[in-house]
Amino acid sequence: MVRPVIAGNWKMNKTVAEAIDFASRLRNALITPPEPEVIIAPPFTALHAVAELLRGSPISLAAQNLHEAEKGAFTGEISGEMIREAGCEYVIIGHSERRTLFGEGDERISRKLRAALSADLRPIFCIGESLREREEGQMQNVVERQLKEGLNNLTAGDISRSLVAYEPVWAIGTGRTATPAQAEEVHQLIRDWIAGRYGNEQAAEMAILYGGSVTPKNIADLMRQPNINGALVGGASLDVGSFIQLLGY
Ligand code: PGA
Repeated sequence: MVRPVIAGNWKMNKTVAEAIDFASRLRNALITPPEPEVIIAPPFTALHAVAELLRGSPISLAAQNLHEAEKGAFTGEISGEMIREAGCEYVIIGHSERRTLFGEGDERISRKLRAALSADLRPIFCIGESLREREEGQMQNVVERQLKEGLNNLTAGDISRSLVAYEPVWAIGTGRTATPAQAEEVHQLIRDWIAGRYGNEQAAEMAILYGGSVTPKNIADLMRQPNINGALVGGASLDVGSFIQLLGY
């Protein structure tokens, strides 16, 4: 059984003060640890302060991106080691906003995955097709290409530290969620692909999260699908009350 994971991706939202306020409310609400693993992904500037506040709590921290180099002349970038030291266990990699707005391709994303793993971070590797790709019948090709190129050179050990998030681009921030059946179809495809490449055991143990307009209203139906092990939530993770509701499905 894969432990479910609910992760909140704050994107470019919340100042340090706002992040601290959210994290302390969340911590107080989770005196009894909930069933799912709980992850929040504040912006870089708030990571260290939030990590200090969450020390000893059941809540884990993720960064939203990293640079693939260990260090050097990369003005404005942040390395895996910096993220790890700031108190993160996870890092989101290959989010569709990084792919489309910041030009990150599969090859770059693959280097970022390796950089995360060598910095002892657990990657949350995001994949998903656009509306056009789905309408042209390319969903499976796109998802399999992203898996193949992104996970290129990763070992079975690396895979056991990685999570995959299926986020159809047409469902992100649009209010248009994939139906549970649509999401399940792709999750099954992802698990089969992992099984074919790394074996049944790795596939069975991998947490595959769904993302794209997840809300307290639609999460329960999604979580009932056998191959959906959690959610990566944007908009609905920004309000602490709504995030706490999501944790109870
Ligand atoms: P959304 O974002 O929940 O606001 O659709 C999800 C994501 O981008 O991870």
